[in-house]
Amino acid sequence: MLLCNNVQGYTLYGAVIMKIVVSKKVPFNIENALNDYTVDYNDSETSLSYDELKTRCVDADALVCMLSDRIDKDFIDACGNLKVIANYAVGYNNIDFEYASEKGVCVCNTPDVLTESTAEIGFGLLMAAGRRIGEAERFTREGKFHGWGAGMMLGHDLYGKTLGVFGMGRIGAAVARMALGFNMNIVYHNRSRNLVAENLTGAKYVEFEEFLTDSDFIVVTAPLTDQTKHRFTKKEFHEMKSTAVFVNIGRGPIVKEADLADALENKEIFAAGLDVYEDEPIINEKLFNLENVVLLPHIGSADVDTRAAMGQMCADSVVQVLKHGEKPATCVF
Ligand code: DGY
Repeated sequence: MLLCNNVQGYTLYGAVIMKIVVSKKVPFNIENALNDYTVDYNDSETSLSYDELKTRCVDADALVCMLSDRIDKDFIDACGNLKVIANYAVGYNNIDFEYASEKGVCVCNTPDVLTESTAEIGFGLLMAAGRRIGEAERFTREGKFHGWGAGMMLGHDLYGKTLGVFGMGRIGAAVARMALGFNMNIVYHNRSRNLVAENLTGAKYVEFEEFLTDSDFIVVTAPLTDQTKHRFTKKEFHEMKSTAVFVNIGRGPIVKEADLADALENKEIFAAGLDVYEDEPIINEKLFNLENVVLLPHIGSADVDTRAAMGQMCADSVVQVLKHGEKPATCVF
């Protein structure tokens, strides 16, 4: 007999085997971690359509979903049995979490475990874009390297330069900490001050205008919100240094991608590195033809141990709600 009074106030009685939907294959034995439940696992690399996922979730108690699954009001209304949605990502802008909260559905994410791996990709993009690593690799592979040249592939060093961090959360602070190894001067812009990061890295909070004009390298690590959407457009790229290197590992819609492509094409900024896109997986066509941009397929957290830890965290959150009736620390509200 299962009796579960959870924090949202619902009560479950009886030895009912609860159903959990996992929307896409994850590199972790999630069925094993959820073996007390019926797991409807889309054990495939292909995403389910919005309608198919919704249909599978109509009678589900929990959903483990990906950042590419849209979980909106209609979805939540149609799946009235859901008690917990565990997003296999730290960002959760794909879920109408405010509505879910109104409906008593706990929305969880995977913070902390992916901080360092995502920050590493951010730092890697800063280096790759600044030092033209992607372009140089293509050049070599295409057989164009016919001898050392003093003026060949000149880029911009990170060492001693100013790094601007947009969004000083866990990942932003980790990138800033890595930048200390390159003797970088760190400035940041955020909705509020992060005194811990300031103390740890010597980062200085600056207004947005100063952030744009003073940074040699910019890394976007902010979440997507109404306030951050399209924060970087034509105007902002115009204000940056012509030598600036711009990296986005936060969320694509923070940047107007067409404006970034124009700024790169017109050499208004030096280079960019992107792991996220405005309309994933679609990428602005113009970017494919530009040498001064490094394009990654959203692999911020794609590390073997990290992805396993994310799977474990999602499973733990689900179990904590369904079995113990508790609100997990990963619940986002
Ligand atoms: C996330 O988990 O939100 C990030 O996009 C990782 O790449």
